Parts: sequence; structure tokens; C-alpha cells
Amino acid sequence: MTETINTPVTRYEALRKVTGETKYAADFMPAGMFFGELVVSPIVRGQLTAIDIREALAEPGVITVYTHETMPKYETPKGFYAGGPGTASFWPMTGTEIKYAGQPVAFVVAENAAAARRGAQRVKATYSKTAGRIEMDTANAFVPVGKKDDNVVTKGDVKAGIASAAAVVDETYTTPFQHHNPMEMFSTTAHWRGEQLTVWMPSQSVRTARAGVATAFKLAETQVEVLSPFVGGAFGSKAGLPPYAMLTIAAARGVGAPVRLMVSREHMYTVAAFRPESIQKFRLAASRDGRLTAFEHIEIAQTSQFDDVVNPGTHMTRSMYACPNIHTEQRLARSDTNTPGFMRAPNEMQSFFGLESAMDELAIKLKMDPVELRRVNDTRSHPVKGVPFSSRSLMACYDAASKSFGWERRTGAPKSMTDGDWLVGYGCATSTYPTAVAPSEARVRMYGAGTAVVELAAHDVGTGAYTIMGQIAAQRLGLPVKAVEVFMGSSDLPIAPISGGSVTSASAGSAVHVACLKLADEIVRSVVTLKDNPLSGVDPAQVKLVDGTLQGPGGKSMSLLDALKATPRGEAVANGQYAHPELTEQALRITYKGGYGVAGPVTKTHAMFAFGAQFVEVRVHRWTHEIRVPRIHGAFAAGTILNRKTAHSQLMGGMIWGIGSALHEHTLVDHARARFLNTDIAEYLIPVNADIAEVNVQMLDERDDFVNPLGVKGIGELGIVGTAAAVANAIHHATGKRLRALPFTLKDV
Ligand code: MOS
Repeated sequence: MTETINTPVTRYEALRKVTGETKYAADFMPAGMFFGELVVSPIVRGQLTAIDIREALAEPGVITVYTHETMPKYETPKGFYAGGPGTASFWPMTGTEIKYAGQPVAFVVAENAAAARRGAQRVKATYSKTAGRIEMDTANAFVPVGKKDDNVVTKGDVKAGIASAAAVVDETYTTPFQHHNPMEMFSTTAHWRGEQLTVWMPSQSVRTARAGVATAFKLAETQVEVLSPFVGGAFGSKAGLPPYAMLTIAAARGVGAPVRLMVSREHMYTVAAFRPESIQKFRLAASRDGRLTAFEHIEIAQTSQFDDVVNPGTHMTRSMYACPNIHTEQRLARSDTNTPGFMRAPNEMQSFFGLESAMDELAIKLKMDPVELRRVNDTRSHPVKGVPFSSRSLMACYDAASKSFGWERRTGAPKSMTDGDWLVGYGCATSTYPTAVAPSEARVRMYGAGTAVVELAAHDVGTGAYTIMGQIAAQRLGLPVKAVEVFMGSSDLPIAPISGGSVTSASAGSAVHVACLKLADEIVRSVVTLKDNPLSGVDPAQVKLVDGTLQGPGGKSMSLLDALKATPRGEAVANGQYAHPELTEQALRITYKGGYGVAGPVTKTHAMFAFGAQFVEVRVHRWTHEIRVPRIHGAFAAGTILNRKTAHSQLMGGMIWGIGSALHEHTLVDHARARFLNTDIAEYLIPVNADIAEVNVQMLDERDDFVNPLGVKGIGELGIVGTAAAVANAIHHATGKRLRALPFTLKDV
């Protein structure tokens, strides 16, 4: 068997994807389907005073136009941050109040997409306007209530730590709004057959969507199926139950026919969640040997007027380095936007840009090598909670990446390295991502023909999860990966967690592992009762499954497949349930209700984090000030790597996006009109091959028996964390300029 865990297995679904054979949510077209289109508010705040749909209705092909008065009613769920499945707690088209620009005010249903769009253009809405603002209301920044314990944390005495220090960095770093633009746009297709409802939508959590829809429309969960077989880019944008999905489902019920809404690129900027802008204030103090004597991080993140979005950067930064005196505060500041949400490493990207820039500034003040500063502050136990890390290979990552990168060639002083007209700089930064594990189930069937089927309500959000789940089962059952078929992305399958927070491989993967062991156990119980096989009469408790082989006492063994073939049924099925021993009952209950219940990253006994180190070379042109990143090296340790090819791609993709965050990505804001200026993907700058020359990804061996039975930590988000700081630090080394506001452009250097 060559395609085992920890080898580079090519995704078996890849060929089907590139040949267009795979069906994404919007590829399903139930017969008689109509098309929806949103009409959105041009004003930021105020009231909808009148809405005239007569011209729209007269448009050929238009079936109907729903407004807040006519849209079929449903019970609006709470938003995610208020403990519900919604992406926001404010549901548009439930009244006349306008709370953000681009808020849906009408829903057009037509025979085809063009007619729907024409109809939408003919809807005449009038408004009374009040002032709106998109600038964060920092004067009224607040610590969100209810989570005060976690959102304000103090250990020791930061003032004293600063007073006794040899060097202090006291700086503020800022990060901008970023909007999701996955290749596969947001869509919903709703098909009612009486009280039975099928919803196709690209989703990172079909169970969350099903639970929310069932509650909203007063249906049993068995009456709703949510399908998301393939996802063309998620990164947090398809994590919950968005209002546009609910509007589509309600409209389909109203017209008595299937309805599809494909959200336009323009509307994707206002009807969905995004990465909020943030302010990261750091005070770091250290003694002459570099040891931190004080650590203070105050994060102010943007949120909407109606939801308290806590993606807590301070929880992660305070987990990084040893320090006796720590103070962190998680604050929010409101502005008039839709509710922000998740985007790949939803707080770590922003907060580690700040932390790892500040660490570099501290190293410079101390005249220390930045790598050494991380080394003297490395810790085996959580700086606040005191529990040990389940595994922590941060410095091993620094050692590996600095070596391959050639960090020793770096000369210390800024502007000291040049190549013709290019100023050359080297910079580094820490990556980390919390390991959280969610409960999951999986069903595994094995057939005497030497094949198996794995089923679970997890998702392949473009990561290769189909192949990875297949690999786990293949290795446990002793089959080739090709012989294992995996079904995911349906809410009718055994429960699996949201594909967010980098939990899928570790959590859903562990359920597949457990299901395989259970399946083997059942086969063993049957085979020991039969005559004439190596395990006849053996105590089943004495038999172990090792990569497809049943090993009994005294060297008695047989392959699992042979054992299965020997059983009268010749096939077997098992349901596996996985839950981390430190998962609370409440967290378990939350997941089974479709929510996000996890153990970690800090449990009663351990802190669970994945780590990495990134090294970047930048070149800044002396005359044009053009900034280039010709080389980036990252070394990562994240427990067991299940598939070295897909993992490599995830980490590389994260690093490239990190460079995009550093140099390109920025939703532009019209502050005078309080709205986002960007409206499409064409002007969305991202790094391309010409920008990224060498991306070196190393995956270190790391064994962690605490995180889960597979020893897997998440890697989906790890790669983006710290990259922007590494670029900032390299720019400083090249030019002597310290850039503290993302993204960095020509004018900044
Ligand atoms: Mo990820 S931002 O948790 O989908």
C-alpha cells in the first residue's frame, strides 16, 4: 500500500473537477425552477418609506416581487454570535429599517435570470435617510458583555513589568476590511415538495443550515435536506445560514416552485460576512536578555450595530510567549455595516500581524536576532492558564525554515543588503493556529469485493477532504484509496462539524477512524465464532486492527478483508462516534443542534496549538518603490500530516494569501458616503505567479497523542498567520521603514 496516511496522495476528485464533471450547489436545477434577484438599499441608514413594484411586475418574465410586506413569513433565527445559526442576527425584509448599504429590500422572482435582473432594476424604492458612518466608533469601543472573563485577562502587573524593562515597544497596528470573493459565488436553490424541502447551497455546515431552516419554517429536521457536495472556495464565507438563503427559501415557498438565487459579485460585498477592520495595540517590554517582562494587547475589532462579533485575537496572542505580566483586552467598535464574520484565520491573521511586527521591533531595540527573541520566550506551558502545550514545535519550525531560507546571510542593519537598484530585506514571524476538536460521527461500510463506503455530513471546501477521509479509511481497512468511496456534503448523513476553524481533518477524520475500528470489531466478533480460519476461537478482545490486518494473540492474524469474506454476510457496516474526552456536555449538545461545540484550544489539562515559522525576502526598488516578495519559506508542525500534497497546498495557499494581505488586499471605503467602494472581483488585487517566485513549504514530524486519536492538528488556516508581519519585518530590514498599517503599497515606502 503506497497511498497511506502521510503520503502525497493526489485528490481522486481532481480530474472530475477540472473536467467540469463535479456538480456544485448551483449546478442542480430542479424542473420548473425560477430565478431570484435581490434589490438592495442604496442608503446606509434610515427607513424604507415606499416601494413600488408595478413596473417590475410588468417586465416580461417576472413572476412576482416580494417586499417586506409580502415575503412569506418565517421565524428569524439568531445570529451566530448570539448563539444561533444565522450569519447575522438582523434579518432584512422583516421591516422597513435600513441598517447598512446594500441591505436587501426586495426579492424578484422571474422565469430566467435576465428577467429577474431587469425586474430588479424596475423596483422603485424610496427612503428617508439618517446619517451613517463606516468609521469605527472607537470612542465608544466596548468589551463585549457575557464573555468578560475571557475578553479581559490580567496576570501579574504589566506596569511593574514595563518599569523594570530594558526595552519597551508601544505601538499600534491596523488591518483593513477584506471581503470574500470565492470563485464559486454565493447561491441558494430551494425546492419545496409540500412540507419537504431540499436546499442546495455552498455550505461549510449543512447541519447548521438544516437546523436553522427547520426551526425558521417550523419543520422537523427530517423534512429538510441541505446539500453542498462541492464548494468552490469557502474560507469562512459559507459558514452559516445567511439571510439571502432564507429569502430564497421563503420565496420558493411563496411562488410554489423551485427558486434559485445567485448572489451577484456586487451584492457579495454587502449581503455576507467579511473580515472586519481592526486596531491592534501592543505594549511589549523585555529585559536585556530578551525575556518578556510585560505583555499587553488591546484589540479593537469592527462590528455591526446589531451583533457583537468576537473573533478574539487577544486569546491567541497571549498564548504565544512566556511572560509573568500579561494584560489583554478584547474590544469592539461599531459601524454601519452588515455583520462581519469569519475569514481564514479570522483573528489570528490580524492580531499576529500586530504581535509579530511588535516582536521584531522589540528585537531591534534589544539588538537581538529576531529568531533568538522568539527562542528565549518560547514556553512549554500556556502563559496564562499554566497548562502544558500538548505539543509545541515552534522553535523546530524556526530552525528548519531559517536554515532552508539562509537566514544566516542576513546582515543586521536596515538598508545593509542591496542588489543593484533593489534594497533587499529578510524578515520572519511566527505562525500559529488553535487546535479545536469537535464531536463527529461517520458511517463506514465494507464489502467483500474489497471496497468501502464512508459517509458523513462533513464538507470538502476545496481542501481535498474527500480524498483525506478516503485515505484514513483505506489505511485502517487495508484497502487502496481508490477502493473507498466517500460521501459528504448532505445534512442527511451522520453528523459532522462545521468545516471551519480548521477542524475537519482532525474531528471528522477521527470519526472515520473510530468507525473503522468499530467495523473491524464487529467483523472480529463474527469471525472468531467460525471454524477454519486463523482467528477461530480467539478472544475478540485480544485482536487488534493494524492497517488492515487483524492481529490476534500468538501471532495469529488475517487480513480484515479475508475475515469479512469469511463472515456469512460478507459485508459490514459501523457507525463511529468521536468526541474528545475533554469536550463538555454542553459543547456536545451544541454540535448536535447544528452549532459549533468544541474542545480546545485550551482544555483543563492542555493547550493545543499548531505552530509555524515564516521567512520572507522582500526587494524594494530604490527608485520606483515597487515591493516584491521573491522568496518565502515556511516550516510548520501540526501533528500528523494526513496527505502531504493537499497539506502542502493548504499551507502554500495560506502563505500566498498572507502576501496578498500584506501587499494587495484592501476593501476600499468611501467614508463620506459610509459604504464600500469595491463591487467586483476584477479589481480585487491578489498575488499571481509573477508576484510569487519561490514558496517553500516544510512540514515537520510532530507526534501529539492528546489532540485526537489521529494526532492531527488543523492546517487550513495556519499558513496565513504571521505572513504579513514577516513581510513588514523584511520591508523594515530592506528600507528602515516600519509599516504598521496593512496593506503596504508604493506610497508607504
Ligand atoms: Mo474558517 S475562517 O474557520 O472557515
